[in-house]
Amino acid sequence: MAKTIIDAHNVSKTFNPKTVPVHAVQNVHLHIEEGEFIALVGPSGSGKSTLLNMMGGLDEPTAGTVFIDGVEITKLSENKLIDFRLHNIGFVFQSFNLIPVLTAKENVGFVLQLQHMSKKEREKRVLNLLKEVGLEDKINSKPGELSGGQQQRVAVARALASKPKIILADEPTANLDSKAAANLLDIMAKLNKEEKITFLFSTHDQRVIKKARRVITLVDGKIDSDVEQSPT
Ligand SMILES: Nc1ncnc2c1ncn2[C@@H]1O[C@H](COP(=O)(O)OP(=O)(O)OP(=O)(O)O)[C@@H](O)[C@H]1O
Ligand SMILES: [Mg+2]
Repeated sequence: MAKTIIDAHNVSKTFNPKTVPVHAVQNVHLHIEEGEFIALVGPSGSGKSTLLNMMGGLDEPTAGTVFIDGVEITKLSENKLIDFRLHNIGFVFQSFNLIPVLTAKENVGFVLQLQHMSKKEREKRVLNLLKEVGLEDKINSKPGELSGGQQQRVAVARALASKPKIILADEPTANLDSKAAANLLDIMAKLNKEEKITFLFSTHDQRVIKKARRVITLVDGKIDSDVEQSPT
């Protein structure tokens, strides 16, 4: 039987509770097993980013509990949470969030430096990661010298650096042309298949949704549907 990797109970998030409350996520239950490849969809403002951020411990729920790989992250102190995130979860954002003054190699290696990996080991791993996403010829380029698709692939390599069990991606293909988007999806699907990394990604893109094996739809902060499908 597959192992539970994300288990969220009755998770809610209310922004500005004391002024103009926004109920961004309401009473969500989510059970995700290791190796799933899931699209999170729904209209703009339905709570996708908020939910992803809470699943990754970037944002604290107003109520409810989140377990990642058996650890209740909603109970961890800030320092423990930072450390847990660093070792267990990879993030990919719509806007890439790369550090502009660092090269591709340095952007990816940064995470490993935080983990105190030795320079030699780091260099080797970073090269392998950039190779994996097809950027071995761009290791010394800075984000501004790369196309959107290439930057997004650096972001994926960075997300992979710490060998996370889970990758949370918030509209990873939103700023990519269709060729770059398809390429990124292929890389994600390959990592999912070969390394059993669990993927939860939000998207508005029909072509991306088709590649998922499970599609969760949020409407007004609640799960409206949760269906398995055969990817095409
Ligand atoms: N920091 C914040 N402070 C106040 N309200 C917020 C904050 N972040 C999000 N919201 C509100 O919470 C709701 C859900 O936002 P969220 O960003 O999660 O939606 P989304 O589904 O990711 O939308 P999109 O598809 O446009 O990215 C929206 O009404 C949004 O305005
Ligand atoms: Mg969003």
